[in-house]
Amino acid sequence: MYESIKGLKRTHKCGELSAADIGKEVVLMGFTNSVRNLGGVNFINLRDISGIVQLFFNTDTPELYEKAAKVRSEYVLAVKGTVRARGEGAVNKDMATGEIEIEVTELRILSSAETPPFYIEENSDVKEELRLKYRFMDLRRPDMQRNFVLRHKMAKVAHDFFDENGFLEIETPMLVKSTPEGARDYVVPSRVHSGKFYALPQSPQLYKQLLMVSGMDRYFQIVKCFRDEDLRADRQPEFTQLDMELSFVDADDVMEINERFMQRMFKEIKGIDLKLPFVKMPYSEAMDRFGSDKPDTRFGLELKDISDIVKNCEFSVFAGAIENGGSVRAINAEGLGEKLTRKTIDALGEFVKTYRAKGLAWIKLNPDGVQSPVAKFLKEEEMNAILERMNAKEGDVIFIVADKNNVVYDSLGALRLEIAKRFDLIDKNRYDFLWVTDFPLLEFDEEANRYVAMHHPFTCPKDEDVALLDTDPSKVRAKAYDIVLNGVELGGGSIRIHDAVLQEKMFGVLGFTKEQAWDRFGFLMGAFKYGTPPHGGLAYGFDRMVMLISGLDNIREVIAFPKVQNASELMSGAPDYIDDRQIEELHIALSDKNEQN
Ligand code: AMO
Ligand code: AMP
Repeated sequence: MYESIKGLKRTHKCGELSAADIGKEVVLMGFTNSVRNLGGVNFINLRDISGIVQLFFNTDTPELYEKAAKVRSEYVLAVKGTVRARGEGAVNKDMATGEIEIEVTELRILSSAETPPFYIEENSDVKEELRLKYRFMDLRRPDMQRNFVLRHKMAKVAHDFFDENGFLEIETPMLVKSTPEGARDYVVPSRVHSGKFYALPQSPQLYKQLLMVSGMDRYFQIVKCFRDEDLRADRQPEFTQLDMELSFVDADDVMEINERFMQRMFKEIKGIDLKLPFVKMPYSEAMDRFGSDKPDTRFGLELKDISDIVKNCEFSVFAGAIENGGSVRAINAEGLGEKLTRKTIDALGEFVKTYRAKGLAWIKLNPDGVQSPVAKFLKEEEMNAILERMNAKEGDVIFIVADKNNVVYDSLGALRLEIAKRFDLIDKNRYDFLWVTDFPLLEFDEEANRYVAMHHPFTCPKDEDVALLDTDPSKVRAKAYDIVLNGVELGGGSIRIHDAVLQEKMFGVLGFTKEQAWDRFGFLMGAFKYGTPPHGGLAYGFDRMVMLISGLDNIREVIAFPKVQNASELMSGAPDYIDDRQIEELHIALSDKNEQN
C-alpha cells in the first residue's frame, strides 16, 4: 500500500498544539509513537520532532477506524482532523499536549514499518552498540533530537557572534599535505599522482594562518578535523572544531573576545549569566595545585608539595624520589575518614597504579590517633609538619605519592577527581571556566629523544623567553592558552610565530633540518616573507562544547553518526574493503593480500 501526501499541507507540528487550538482543523504528519486500541476506540500517539499528540478514532467512522486499526508502531502517517478538548478525567498532565486530542477525519498511511529493534523512548537503556547499529532509529528518540536541536542553536549563536564581531567564515581544504600536528594523519591516496598521498586535516591551522597573511583579518569556521588517535569518551577520530584566527592581536585580545563569546552562548542557550573575566592560571600553578593542565576547580582536594619535609626521612621511597629529581606530594580528603575504609583505600591504591604510581601512602586521623603504613618511617616532627602543611584534622585522610613529577601530578590529579566522583563532591550546577596560560613551549619526548611542541610548532614563545631557545629550551614558555570548563579542555590556541627566521629556528629546536622544514612547511615560511600581521587564534572542540552544555559525558550523544572505540561506524560498516580495481588505480599494493576480501 502506498499513499502520498498529495494535496495535504502540514499545518502544525504535533507538539505545538494546545488548548488554544481547540476547534481548529489541522493537518499533521509524523511517526506512530504508540497505539492503544481499546476495541471500538483507538488512540494513536503521533510523534514528530516537536513532540507527541493523541489521535482519536472510533467506530462512528468505521472506514477510518478499520484503517487506523492496521497502524503499528513507527508507521508514518498524515492525518487531517479537528483539535478538541479531552474528556474530563482523560487529561494527561505528563504530556505537553495532554489537554487535547485530534478527532481524525482523514488518515493516510505514508509508510508502514517493521517492528523496531528497540522502543523509541526517552532515556532508553538499550545497549549503545545496538543504538549505533540502528542510529537512524536511535535519532528518533526525543532526547537525542533535543541534543541536535541544541547543537544547531549553538552553531547559530556562534555564527551570529562571530559575524557581528567581524569574522568571515572561510572554508579550508579537506585534502591537504601531511603536516603532522601531534596525532597520526588519515591519508588519502592520489590516483593521478602515483605514490603520493593527501592527508585529511587535523585542523585548519596552516590555512587559517595563511588567511591572515592574505589580509582576511578575522576568520572563523565550523569545520571537520581528522585525527587517527586512540578514542576516549570525549574524543572522536573525526570531530568538529569551532576554529578562529585574528590579525593584530595578542593573547589577551583572543581570550577577551572568547570570554564574551562564551558569555553570549551561556546566556542564549542556558539563560546563565557568566561573570567575566575568567580566572587565568599559569600552567605551573595548575599542575602544582591540581596535578592537571585542565583542572576541575569545582572542589578542593588540592595538591601540596611535602618534599621539603620528607627529603631526609627514613622511607627510602620518599627520599629516593626527591633525590632523583622527583617530588612527594599529598592531598587531604577532608572529613572522609569514615567513608574511606581500608578496602576503599586499597582500591584507590590500585587506581593510582594505572597512572604509573608505584604506591599510595596514606595517613588517617582517627579519633584515637594517627593511623598510617608509613608512620613507622617518619619522625614525630616530620609527621607533625605534614599534618600542619595539609591542615589536617580528625576525620581527614591524607594521600601521598612519591615519584617523578609527571607521575605524581598524573596520579594525584586523577585521584582527586576519583575521590570527588566517588563521594559526590562536585556541584553539578556550577560552570567553572578558566584559562590555563603560559604553557611550556616544548616537551621532551623520551621515546623520540627530542623536543616536541606542546601545542604545535607555530606557537610563539614568550618574548622574554626567546633567548632560552638556545640555552635551555625546556624553560621556554609559550604564548598559548587553553580554555577549560569543569575540568574539560574545551579549546586551545596561541599567538603564532609570524617571522620566517624564528619559525625556522623553532623547527631547528624540534630536530628538523633546514631542508626538512622547508620541504614540509615552506609554503608557510615562504608566505611570512611577504608581509605578515602578528596573529593568533583558538579552536574549540565543538562536540565537546555541546556535550558539556547538554550536561552529557559522552561525545557520541551529540554526534549524529559517531564512531566507536575501534574507529568503525557500526551502521554503515566503515571502514570497509575496496575493489581490487580501485586499489590498482590508486597504485597501492597491500602488504597482506589476505587482508583484502
Ligand atoms: P587542539 O589540538 O588543542 O588545537 O584542538 C582544539 C580542540 O579540539 C578538541 N579536540 C577534539 N575533540 C574531539 N575529538 C578529538 N579527537 C579532539 N581533538 C581535539 C579539543 C581541543 O581543545 N589548531 C589548533 C588550535 C589553535 O591553535 O588555534 C588545534 O587544533 O576540545
Ligand atoms: P611498603 O613499606 O613498601 O609496604 O610501603 C608502605 C606504604 O608506602 C604503602 O602504603 C605503599 O602503598 C606506599 N608507597 C609505596 N611506594 C610509594 C610511592 N612511590 N609513593 C607513595 N607511597 C608509596
